[in-house]
This record gives sequence, C-alpha cells and structure tokens, in this order.
Amino acid sequence: MKHFDNKVAAITGAGSGMGRSLAVQLAGAGCHLALADKNAVGLAETERIVRALAPSVRVTTRVLDVGKRDAMFAWADETVAAHGRVNLVFNNAGVALSSTIDGMSYDDLDWIVNINFWGVVHGTKAFLPHLKASGDGHIVNTSSVFGLFAQPGMSGYNATKFAVRGFTESLRQELDMMKCGVSATCVHPGGIRTNIAQASRVASNMVGFMVASEQQGKDEFEKFFITTADDAARTILTGVRRNARRVLIGRDARAADWLARVLPSAYQALVVMSARREAAKANKRAKRAAREAMLNGGASNNNAGNNQGETA
Ligand SMILES: NC(=O)c1ccc[n+]([C@@H]2O[C@H](COP(=O)([O-])OP(=O)(O)OC[C@H]3O[C@@H](n4cnc5c(N)ncnc54)[C@H](O)[C@@H]3O)[C@@H](O)[C@H]2O)c1
Repeated sequence: MKHFDNKVAAITGAGSGMGRSLAVQLAGAGCHLALADKNAVGLAETERIVRALAPSVRVTTRVLDVGKRDAMFAWADETVAAHGRVNLVFNNAGVALSSTIDGMSYDDLDWIVNINFWGVVHGTKAFLPHLKASGDGHIVNTSSVFGLFAQPGMSGYNATKFAVRGFTESLRQELDMMKCGVSATCVHPGGIRTNIAQASRVASNMVGFMVASEQQGKDEFEKFFITTADDAARTILTGVRRNARRVLIGRDARAADWLARVLPSAYQALVVMSARREAAKANKRAKRAAREAMLNGGASNNNAGNNQGETA
C-alpha cells in the first residue's frame, strides 16, 4: 500500500500505546478509522485526540474484547457498513504475563492466549474477506521481540508471540500465492514505552525467582523500554508502505534477531546467565527492602510507644 489517504483502517488496542500512535499518524495521513479497545476510557481519549487533529477523518469506535470471536466478526461487518470498505487491519491489542511454567495457572494462560493469539486470528479471519473486497488491503499483526527469542518467566507471552509470527508468515505466503490484492506484515517491537508493563500480570511465583515483588517486576520490565510509541508507529507504517514481510522496531529488536540467528541454541545460555544476574540483584534489593521495612516498622512502633507514653 503506497499511501493511507482516504483509506480505512481498523485498529485493535487503539486506547493506548502503539495502537493510539497508529491511529494518530494514520489520521494525520488522511486515513479513516475504526478503533476498538476493551478499555472504554482509553478508547474515548484516542477518539478525542484524533477528532481534534483531523476533523475531516471519519472515526468510529467499538468497545470490544478481541478474544471474543463473535464480537470481532460483528465489528468487521459494522466497520464496512459505517465506512463503505476497509483496507487495513492492525491486530495490535496485547497483554503481558510473567510466570514460571510450573506455577502458571490455566486461567492466566487462557487469558494471554485468548488476547494475544486468538485476538489476532479472529481479527485476521473477520477482516480478510472485506480486505479482499477493497482491492487494496493489508493485515498488520503485532508479534514481539519475544516472537524471535525466548526468555525464562515469559513462556505464555513467548508462546503467543511465536504463534503470531508463524501464523502471519504463513498468511503472507498464502496471500502472495493468491495474488488477491491483500498483503500481510508481522511486527516485532523491542521495548516500547507504553502501558503494557503496568497492565501486565506478574504471578506471585515470580517473586523470589526473578523479581523482588510484583510491582518491581513491572518496573524492571519497563527499564527495557527504549523506543517511543510514536517512533514505533512510524516504523510500522513505513513497513506497510514498503510491503515488508516483517518489521523490527528498535536496536534491541535488531540485536535480539541477530543473536537468535547467529546463536540459535547457545543464545539461551546467555539469556539464563543474564536472568540469573538480574534475579540475584532483585533478591538483594528485596532483602534490603524487607530489612528497611522492619527497621522502619520498629522505629514507628517505638514512636507509637513514645506517643502513648506522652499522652498517658
Ligand atoms: N511495549 C512493548 O515493549 C511491546 C514490545 C513488543 C510487543 N508489544 C506488543 O505491542 C502491542 C501493543 O501493546 P502496547 O505496548 O501499545 O501496550 P498498551 O498496554 O499501551 O496497549 C495495549 C492496548 O490493548 C488493549 N487490550 C488489552 N486487552 C484487550 C482485549 N482483550 N481486547 C481489546 N483490547 C485489549 C488495552 O486496553 C490497551 O489499550 C501488544 O500486542 C504487545 O504485546 C509491545
């Protein structure tokens, strides 16, 4: 797709992060938008920003859980009814989970697979007939750097993002064979400054294994976020214009891709070494925090005692 002017794009996860940045940049390029998110507040804020920026762009919104197949198909039909056609779908909505495998609940695993994998499958299948009908269509599925290499404590996320990669690479080859006017791109962002870490689930089994506390796990995750969501969206849209099969975002993603290709099995030993080092640091930090809490608790107990003494 050479340009986005007067095209129609559907974006999932449009209420935050890269989804919002994609909406803003596409609107700036004259693209009409169908925006969806589970979070009604974030979605309304994206709609407000986009309408202020590009009043001539047609915008529709739908609060929706991408893991619900019927809702996704209904939204695809509704998008075509409202906009007359649809040219692009960005299956961008996603969540993160940190958990060991032996401690992982099926509830957590179902949650992430439903959103990160089934959400992409439903979005692809629901929109594909409409994209074909448009004569100029593109599917953009968001995997991750964790669709290129694995890491301990991330099996659920790794599984879904490797699955999105396999699904999308196969999809692209089928579309190439069909010559049906639709193409596909798989996106592999490195660490992007968005809300994903704070919105993630950190299972309690990670505490003491790789992180000092659930919150510290989220904060630690965020330290690796080096690219802005706006820069990431720009890279994605450049990739779509160039009809790239895959888009790597950030020098971290490019380095991880290189490492996994040059050392396809030995990279794991390097990751374990680095994870052990980080876990040791986290545990030291946890012990220090516990000691400080005990001391502070002791001090405030003493103070409480003193105060009681004074009032008595
Ligand atoms: N931020 C990163 O470092 C990073 C790295 C690699 C891949 N990714 C991927 O990029 C994509 C976008 O994430 P982001 O970083 O912008 O995060 P984000 O948390 O800022 O945005 C994700 C959006 O998805 C929405 N969402 C979550 N569950 C949903 C559901 N069931 N149905 C509909 N919407 C739902 C959230 O409400 C949110 O608005 C995700 O697929 C994520 O896995 C992010």
